[in-house]
Amino acid sequence: MRTLSGLAPAKINLGLRVLNRRSDGYHELRTVFQTISLADQLTIHYDPRGDGEVLLDCDVPSLATSDNLAVRAAQSLLRAGGWPGNVAIDLKKRIPVGAGLGGGSSDAAALLLALRRMLKPRPHLALLAEVAAGLGSDVPFFLQGGRAVGLGRGEEVYPLADQPRRRLVLVAPEIFVSTAEAYRSLRKSRARLTAAERQLIINGFQVNIVASEESGTLDPAKLPINDFESVVFQQFPALKEWKNRLLEAGASVAMMSGSGSAVFGVFSSLRRAQEARKVLRGVGGKVYLAETIDRSACQASWGK
Ligand code: C5P
Repeated sequence: MRTLSGLAPAKINLGLRVLNRRSDGYHELRTVFQTISLADQLTIHYDPRGDGEVLLDCDVPSLATSDNLAVRAAQSLLRAGGWPGNVAIDLKKRIPVGAGLGGGSSDAAALLLALRRMLKPRPHLALLAEVAAGLGSDVPFFLQGGRAVGLGRGEEVYPLADQPRRRLVLVAPEIFVSTAEAYRSLRKSRARLTAAERQLIINGFQVNIVASEESGTLDPAKLPINDFESVVFQQFPALKEWKNRLLEAGASVAMMSGSGSAVFGVFSSLRRAQEARKVLRGVGGKVYLAETIDRSACQASWGK
């Protein structure tokens, strides 16, 4: 029996542009992923003598099901390489669910990274990437973490240089947004996009990335928008209010993450973030203090 413990960090999207719907049903997108300090905790046991059983124990009992993405990650990897053995997962859930913070995807990636260290012979990274993409569009990003551009349906990941640590305040109201439904709501407006408009969005995204990488700042004027805000704010106006409250509390940038419902604000110092958190607390929903974490910190969790 081998055991490993580590963290599965959440992500935020520093902008998310949704383009056309593809023939496989997914939408082409452009985004910048960034891992943050809010994280689930996992302990993973691997017993090479078992015959493929994967068990999950979670402190949120409703998540401890056989279709949990972490369970499916372990099953998929064992099956993909024909490894024998049983896996037992202990998951302490800290990342809100259905919030656009990638918690389920990060747990799945953590399973792949942990099993990579425990299986013999060791799985190749290419196999991990393939299994990750089959599990969900955000899972491949979490194999690397840090800051990265996401293309395709999100599974094509291109690392960006880490930037200085940013202090964040994160608001996670008790609103569960289904990613599939959010895409469905966007579908009509995306179908109307002409090829020229799509190209303009792509060009704008690229220019903004280059500009923000060169300046090393999160200039709000240079940050691409999150296209999901238009449809999700319409359905849940409280989320727009949270975004405005974050800006009023001094955030230089405030934006919804992914398809929501979490909204984050970027602050220039820990003190300002702490003050904002105080103001925002007690208005409803969970308010977290967090910070961006870079690739090396993510990778330290499960080893090379
Ligand atoms: O890939 P993942 O399982 O996270 O996606 C959940 C759902 O979101 C998909 O079934 C699809 O309906 C939608 N989606 C999409 N385009 C993407 C990513 C997800 O339409 N790029």
